[in-house]
Formats: sequence, structure tokens, C-alpha cells
Amino acid sequence: MPDSLPVISVGFFGCGVVGSGALLALQQNAAAIERQLGARLEVRRICVRDPQRARPVELAPGVLTTDPAAILDDPSIQVVVELMGGVQPAGDYLLRALRGGKHVVTANKELIAKEGPALFAVAAERGLDFFCEGSVAGGIPILRALQVSLAGNRFSELIGIVNGTTNYILTQMAQTGKSFDQALGEAQALGFAEADPTDDVDGFDAVYKLAILASMAFGTRVPLDRVARQGIRNITDRDIAYARQMGYVIKLLAIARRQDDGLELRVHPALLRVSHPLASVNDVYNAVFAHGHAVGEVMFFGRGAGSLPTGSSVLGDLMEVARGIRCGGSGRVNSAGLADLPILPIEDAQSHYYVRTETADQPGVLAAVAGVFGKHEVSLESMLQKRADEQIAEIVWITHRTREGRLQAALREIEALPVVQRVSNCIRVEE
Ligand code: HSE
Repeated sequence: MPDSLPVISVGFFGCGVVGSGALLALQQNAAAIERQLGARLEVRRICVRDPQRARPVELAPGVLTTDPAAILDDPSIQVVVELMGGVQPAGDYLLRALRGGKHVVTANKELIAKEGPALFAVAAERGLDFFCEGSVAGGIPILRALQVSLAGNRFSELIGIVNGTTNYILTQMAQTGKSFDQALGEAQALGFAEADPTDDVDGFDAVYKLAILASMAFGTRVPLDRVARQGIRNITDRDIAYARQMGYVIKLLAIARRQDDGLELRVHPALLRVSHPLASVNDVYNAVFAHGHAVGEVMFFGRGAGSLPTGSSVLGDLMEVARGIRCGGSGRVNSAGLADLPILPIEDAQSHYYVRTETADQPGVLAAVAGVFGKHEVSLESMLQKRADEQIAEIVWITHRTREGRLQAALREIEALPVVQRVSNCIRVEE
């Protein structure tokens, strides 16, 4: 390629796992990328907390800085790539970048889930690009698919396995019989799970990703506090074994479903039939399954985290910004803006349920518990009884589809029966 190629200059915030991955992906394929763009991407400055830290990527001398102004106040930098994470100061930096006329690429799910609409609006006002493919499901190009290739669809549902850490833990529990704590410890030792695993195992990370997916698929704002959230800490090896005996696996699912009166949005563990396309998505892999009125069922699968896979999404966004700059097509946005579809309360959601009870092992117990389900109009689909020890029977019930509120009322009454020790778990079943 001639040396006179136009240069698109870029500033990075953050050069950790994802930042290094994006830079490495760019370096490894630079010639082909230049040919595609007819331009050279030049990473002029990288703002980091610790310039001395060893990084798995070669950087030009003097490129690292600890001063955000070295990027934000440099008028020659046309694109800001933000990979530092967290809402602040990242949000301020991106606002300043947009106000300074710079395009933005970010993989910051928390920021987009919390403040995305405001930032997108500033970008749109100024005719700038703002892309965030790396924020959901790592290397899977799901956001651009929803916004471009599938944009004409009316979606009825979206179901995702969007958190690699929890998928790894649940897979290990299922395949090796490890307890939750053992599988979590192993995930931490392998670097999949953070020392404080709260964001992943309690479902916050998946809620951010679901909010972004739903906002793009349904064209609506998603207040995070309206998304029902339950993590995987209560899933035991017993639940996994019982589920398997009944033909299911347990996965942490992120679900968005359009109903006549609004959207169901929830993140929780769920039993899935082993024949469901998401049931065989194991370890740190992610997948998103969607149904659109025209495309029908469609599923995306790939690496949901990691340096090069997420770097691949960031690099793709950066190249799309570069094409916009080269061809004069920056800042193309949906003109309709975001709606405010009602988010339905979880009590009104309908599902099948898996309920595990510990009861006295004596005549009449089954009838007593089944009677309470019947009284609350919860119909039973199947049942499995095991002896937990000399006196205690463990009974697993799978219900037909019922309203969450109705099931909870039945469980409160069942727990109060003298023959019932406890309701030891209740997990939704996605059919
Ligand atoms: N912590 C996330 C996961 C990766 O386990 O999937 C980054 O989004």
C-alpha cells in the first residue's frame, strides 16, 4: 500500500484485557485492514492508570499517557475507544469526546446500560458514530445484527446466555459434579471469575447486557431497576442432578419477551430441555437466540469474553467508524428514537417451575402438597421422589405454565404445612 494513505487517528482509554486484544487484533491484520479501509488506523495515544505495567502488545514509544486531556484535547484525534469500564470517569470522557467532535467506540456495558440513551443522543445531534458491539457477548456480533441485518424484524423474544463466568460454573457443576463453591474457585483460579464475583454470579453483568439487547431489539429505554434479577448462588449439585434425570440442563438466562401489554425482562437460572439450542452452549461460550417476525428463529454463538474475541468486536466498530469518516457516512441513527414500552412486573410473568421440597416420608404427604398446588390453580406436569435420608423425602415437582404470583402464594402455604420441612428451591423452566 502507498505510504500516502490517509490516516485516521485514534485515542484509547484503557489497555487491559480488551484494549490489548483490540490492538493485537489490529496489529496482526494491519495490511488487510488498510486495504479494506483505504486508510491507516493510527493509535496515537493510550491513556492508562499504570504505564509501567507489562502488556502483551507492542506499543510505540511515548504512546502511553496518564493524562486524559492528551486525547480529549487533541483535535487531531478523530476516534475515542473507551475500554476502561465503570460509569465514571468513562462517561465524562465520552461526553467530552463527543462534544469535541470525536466518534466513540466502547465495550462498557455498565455505562451503556445506565447512560447509553443520553450518550447516543449527543452523538446523533452531532452526526457522530457511537458503537458498542463489544459491550454484549464479547466476540459475537449481535448488536450490529439486531440493528442492521435484522433491523426490519418485529422481535417476539430474545433469550441469551450472555455471561461466560456463570456458564462455566454451571457447566463444571453439571459435567464434573462440583459444588457451586468448588466451580467458582476453579473459575477464579483460571481467571474467568473476578476475586469479587458478585457482578457475574448475582446476575448484574447479564442484566446490563440484557438491557442493551432489549433496547436495541425493541427500540425502547430499559430502566435497569425494572429488570428482574436472580443469580446462580442457590443452584446446587442436587438441582443439577434432578434436572438431568428429568431431561433438562440449568443455565443462567437473560430473557426479553414481547407481550401484548409490554415487555418481560428477566435474568435468572432456568431449566432448559436438553434439546433446546441453548442447552449445548457450554463453558465460557455465549449465545443469543432470537425470534423475529420475518427471519423466524435465529441464533448467534461464540466466545462471550476474552482479549481477542472482544477485541475483534472493538476493532470491527473502529473500522466501521473509519468507513464513515472515509465515505462521509458518519452518525447514521434511527430517526424514531427510543420508546418507553412498559416493563411488566415479574409477578405477572408466566412460566413452568421446578420446585424441590423436603418433607416427612409418611402417608398423605404427596396428597397434601399437591392439594395446595391445586388450590392455587397450579397444575402439575411431573414429579420425582427420592429419599434424602431415613426420615426425609425429597420431592421435585415440575408445574405446568402458571403465573409467578400464583406459584409464590402456593409455595408460602406449602412451606407452612406441618409435614413439609422446607421448600429448598424453586427454579423457572423455559419450554
Ligand atoms: N464477566 C463477563 C462474563 C465478561 O463472564 O461473561 C465480560 O462481559
